[in-house]
Amino acid sequence: MSADDSERAGGRASYRVSEDPEEARVEGRRLALLGELRDRRSAATLEALGIEDGWRCLDVGSGGGSLARWMAERVRPYGSVVATDVDLRFQREGRDNLEVRRHDIVHDALPENEFHLVHARAVLQTIEQREAVLDKLVRALRPGGWLVVSDPEWSAFERQPLPEAFRALYDAMMDAAAHAHGYDRHWPVRIPAAFRARGLVDIDCRGDSHAMHGGTDSAEWLILAYERSAPGLVRAGFLDQRTVDEGLRAARKRDFLAMGPVSVCCWGRKP
Ligand SMILES: C[S@@+](CC[C@H](N)C(=O)[O-])C[C@H]1O[C@@H](n2cnc3c(N)ncnc32)[C@H](O)[C@@H]1O
Repeated sequence: MSADDSERAGGRASYRVSEDPEEARVEGRRLALLGELRDRRSAATLEALGIEDGWRCLDVGSGGGSLARWMAERVRPYGSVVATDVDLRFQREGRDNLEVRRHDIVHDALPENEFHLVHARAVLQTIEQREAVLDKLVRALRPGGWLVVSDPEWSAFERQPLPEAFRALYDAMMDAAAHAHGYDRHWPVRIPAAFRARGLVDIDCRGDSHAMHGGTDSAEWLILAYERSAPGLVRAGFLDQRTVDEGLRAARKRDFLAMGPVSVCCWGRKP
């Protein structure tokens, strides 16, 4: 990383999962759900961009690693994948062409002009230094390589009717995450322009959403994130326990039904 990057990289740390076994269990389940809900769509996008045997791929903030394992299968026998994350507790063994690396995308160096594909899903939104990180991701691409970034956009979610207790929890969680980590719930609408500013071409994006039914996996991917991070945010004084308890209860009722956030996926190619 250049001295310039280090300077720009200052700022709040992205979220971390503590050593508490219960917190880790909840995060493991949440990451597995995220993979189940999103991998098919992500894989379809990568297929449309031409992923094939021989590609060298990077999956940043790989979480449970299910998509990185799919990529490794897809690009074998001659291609390979590097899956990075600050926390490797949720990764499983993969194929021999998959390297899982502990790596902080804000502070650690990446090779340059190396990858046919750099992918980051549900990561940049949680990182305050996302603009500097994007610079680094573009440098990591080889000419002709694709950058694929996806994150949820929350504007439509906020405009729908929601149970009062859950809305209070949602508002408090968003404020707390923005304060604590620089989380930006509307970052996805800026991704295409951020790609163009870095000289990427053939830029396009798509968004999709799905219904969230209370007490099922379709809602738990979000509710588990709240359950995991609530104790720390309550201790830090960002939230009160009553808001957490009532909000979680409301979202786990069988009759809870909401449209999920729009998952926006953007891609662009390094000329
Ligand atoms: C919401 S999860 C998404 C996981 C995976 N990309 C997916 O979509 O299933 C965000 C991941 O980013 C990782 N992360 C957060 N900050 C990071 C950083 N500075 N460098 C690398 N990974 C980071 C977290 O540990 C977590 O695994």
